[in-house]
Order: sequence, then C-alpha cells, then structure tokens
Amino acid sequence: MSMTRRGFLATVGAGSAMGVGGALSAAAQDAPALPKPANGPIVIGSRNALAAATRAVGGMRKGEDPLDAVIRGINLVEDDPNDDSVGLGGLPNEDGEVELDASVMDGRTHKAGAVASLRHIRNPASVAALVMRRTDHVLIVGDGALRFARAHGFQEENLLTDKARRVWLEWKEQHSEHDDWLPPEGTEKKKEFGWKTRIDGSDFTYGTIHVSALTPAGDLVGCTSTSGLSFKIPGRVGDSPIIGAGLFVDNQVGAAGSTGRGEANLQNCSSFLVVELMRQGRTPEEACFEVLRRIAGRTEKRLLNPAGEPGYQLKLYAVRRDGLTGGAAMRPVEAEMVVHDGREAKKLKMKTLYGG
Ligand code: GLY
Repeated sequence: MSMTRRGFLATVGAGSAMGVGGALSAAAQDAPALPKPANGPIVIGSRNALAAATRAVGGMRKGEDPLDAVIRGINLVEDDPNDDSVGLGGLPNEDGEVELDASVMDGRTHKAGAVASLRHIRNPASVAALVMRRTDHVLIVGDGALRFARAHGFQEENLLTDKARRVWLEWKEQHSEHDDWLPPEGTEKKKEFGWKTRIDGSDFTYGTIHVSALTPAGDLVGCTSTSGLSFKIPGRVGDSPIIGAGLFVDNQVGAAGSTGRGEANLQNCSSFLVVELMRQGRTPEEACFEVLRRIAGRTEKRLLNPAGEPGYQLKLYAVRRDGLTGGAAMRPVEAEMVVHDGREAKKLKMKTLYGG
C-alpha cells in the first residue's frame, strides 16, 4: 500500500506524539524524586578558590545577591597577580597575549552569560555577568567582548605580569630546538621542555577557578573564570565560557563546573552531564566519576599514557540542591577542591579515577 509524503508525516507525527507522550509519562513515573531543597550558603570550588569561597559565603550572609557574592569572590583571584591561571598574571597565549574566558549562570532565572578571548580586562567574570544581565545574548567573544566591557566602564590594562612574561619567554625559548629563540647565554637549550611533566603529560597548563553555590534561599548559582590553556593558539577557547561544558546550573537539581583539559569537557558537555546524572539520582561524587569514566573511555590514543589512561588532568565539582557536595579528578596531580559548609572553607583531597 502506498502512502503520500504528507500522509506519512501525518501518521508519523500522530504516532510520535502518542509515543513520546506515553514515554514521557512513563519516564516521569520512573524518575527518582529530586533531592529535597536545602538552604545554603554552601559552596564548592577549585583548589584555588579558598579566598573566593570565603568571600562568597561572607557576601551571601550579609545579604548580597548570591551570584554577585560568588563573582566578587572570583574577582579576588582574577586580581591576584600570583595566580597564573586566571585574570591578571594569567599565562598568555603563544604570542604572549593574555586572553581570558569566563561564564556565569543563575539558577533563579536559568540565564547565563559568558565572554571568551577577552583581552586587557582583568575581571572577565564580571563582564560575563553583564552579558547575562544587560544583553539579549549569552556569549560575546574577542574584540566585541572588549568593546562591550569598555562600554560598561571597565579599564583596560596590560594583564601580562613580568613573572608571566618570563615564564612565556622561557617556554618560547625552550619549546623547540628548531627555531631561532635562544635561552640566556650559559643556559642549555633543552631537548624536551619541562612543561611536559607539569600536568601529567600535558605540555601546557589548564588552570582555572570555578565556584558553585547553594544560596541561603536554596537557589543555585555558579561561575568559572580562566586564562585558559597556557601558550594556546590565539583565539583558542576552552570549556570555561561554554555553558554545559565548564559550568552548568539547574535550580531543580544542582550546579557543576570544571577545571583542567577544556577540550575534554567541550567534547562531552561534562558539566551539563554531571547535573543530568544528579537529576537521575546520583550523588555529586558519583555523577562526577561517571562523567570522568565516559571521558576516559572516549579519549584519543595520543592523549593516553603508557598504561592506557588519560594523561591529562580534569576535575569536576558539583553541589546538589539538597546541599550535598562532591567532586572527582582524573589524576592525582593537584587533586584538591574547596568546600565551604557555611561555617568554614576547607581544602579537601579529591578522589581520583586513576593513580590512587
Ligand atoms: N579548563 C580551562 C581551559 O581548558 O581553558
């Protein structure tokens, strides 16, 4: 029996509507109950987020808007010239230019804002918040992000500290034997550059700051900010400003964020997946481990160490709306996170998928 295209679509449409409706109601019946909401402040963040978490909780306790409290906490680290992974003093791209990425997400509105490849502005997290609050967009990049920041009165400055410049110059002089850049007289040109061992097998560093918070009113907010992969190809954007990769917040379930190899999070929508797994009943730690396992299983061969494990570091952090926090790391290098339980902030060792 023949069927016209219109007839086929009508039949499929009706069938799908019934099928999907049936499947949805069955799924809804089977779905585990969402965790009971609790009240914060409770904060989880990356290992460099001790001051940020303390500032965030202090601000929330004083009645500051919770997302602003988190961002002001992150601003402290963006302003710190000694943190080489974020804001002022962040390690530059391969041309010696500091390019910053950041995102914010607010569970109360499910709105998000982000900037990528932003130059000359030390607080990309604050610019990301303005993208969320003062535009109809989610992500603004490069020169457009700089012009947007200027329009909001941000001051431009040279973000390359002398320390970061010297680290970059050493990288430039040492990363290849086949160019004309030479280290200072009396220094041997290395055959293999030392960065290779800095983060388990990676040539470069991926430092970043992440903070997720359960607020006093039981809402969820989060922010991730970074100078990204050190010595990256100019214009390279990692996971931090990509909603669902380096940050995701769902007020019904929880919030998650990440630091480490951004490319792995971009390929796996990691933060979104952590939140979805918590929706399905996993604890934050279980959800983070499941995502790491999936990422590890999909890692391309050139990134595996001789034992067949991902040679890079990747850390996931999550807080559920009932206040439970947890995280997991791919490898033991710098596998620490910060948790503020509302009374004090503590740096905790993270469990790891590989290497103990
Ligand atoms: N996770 C930071 C980056 O890859 O840029």
